[in-house]
Amino acid sequence: MIDSYGRNIDYIRISVTDRCNLRCIYCMPEDGVALADHRDVLSYEEIEKICRILVRLGVKKVKLTGGEPLVRKDLKELVKQLKRIEGLEEITLTSNGVLLKEFIGPLVQAGISGVNVSLDTLSSGVFREITRRDVLEQVMEGIEEALKYPDISLKVNCVPLGIPGQEIQKLADLARENRIHVRFIEMMPIGYGKQYRCLTQDEIMKQLTEAYGIMYPVCETLGNGPACYYKPEKFRGSIGFISAVSHKFCSECNRVRLTSQGFLKTCLQYDTGRDLRRLLRAGATDEELQEEMSKAILEKPREHHFADPKIQEEDGRMMWQIGG
Ligand code: GTP
Ligand code: 5AD
Ligand code: SF4
Repeated sequence: MIDSYGRNIDYIRISVTDRCNLRCIYCMPEDGVALADHRDVLSYEEIEKICRILVRLGVKKVKLTGGEPLVRKDLKELVKQLKRIEGLEEITLTSNGVLLKEFIGPLVQAGISGVNVSLDTLSSGVFREITRRDVLEQVMEGIEEALKYPDISLKVNCVPLGIPGQEIQKLADLARENRIHVRFIEMMPIGYGKQYRCLTQDEIMKQLTEAYGIMYPVCETLGNGPACYYKPEKFRGSIGFISAVSHKFCSECNRVRLTSQGFLKTCLQYDTGRDLRRLLRAGATDEELQEEMSKAILEKPREHHFADPKIQEEDGRMMWQIGG
């Protein structure tokens, strides 16, 4: 499916829940949030149906996200259902890692091929400060467990907040010794994220070059996402950057999103898309759904305007509802 700017849409990010077992300061408020009613959340059957049609339209890769996807019951069942869709080539997961140790085995068995773990620091004090929970150890155990599966790609996502003690170089070191790709994500002005100024890609690059020497650009593709990767000498993994504001990648955008409540969201910033849950539950046929999805994709905005203060139009959805 080619959109009206010539971009090939072959990737869908599916948020399976808006619930989360962490409360990251740049994402959720301390007291939690009003969560969606269970009845408003798509069932696995509904997700599968939507996916089947999207695959007909050209989607080949699925990323499961949240909130925290592992807090949804029996996620492996969804993976198994999606694996049966002919033409769907890859299912991966983005998780905060807290429950990974328990679930990675069953998920690999069900058919996922990669995991991205959100981890902003290796210091337990700073971890508590950022996530408002004291569970760094569980996340590390989850990563260790995931490393036991040699065919599963493993990435760590860090949003560098520039707070004392976050020690981003220690995170980068994970890529030196392990087959882990460590990515630094620039904060996007969405929800609570607006309150923070992150370290820039250039600042991090400078710091890491001083520590490791030349960072060689990596030529092979390491995922479906917008990250660009570098490798210092003697590193097993690599260092990636996802800098949506300072290094905008909208012209290469290959994705749409499905929220847990069934909204097909065609751009991270804007409210454009289709309420597929309403259509599904009103009894729309597969053909009608397909028609609406392809219209929505054709209307996909050209780009975000996060850096333009004049353009304030945005989606009221928060990051935990969108899934990144
Ligand atoms: P892989 O590299 O294939 O694993 O995918 P990915 O990088 O898309 O996955 P992940 O879920 O780890 O996303 C990492 C970060 O990239 C998150 O903070 C997302 O919000 C951000 N991101 C992903 N897609 C987009 C996009 O289309 N636009 C913007 N601005 N940010 C995105
Ligand atoms: N900007 C950039 N990344 C964000 N994430 C959450 N909120 C934001 C934001 N405002 C990250 C999480 C996770 C990924 C899925 O999205 O830390 O790594
Ligand atoms: Fe949960 Fe991710 Fe939001 Fe943190 S950033 S509170 S892990 S959804």
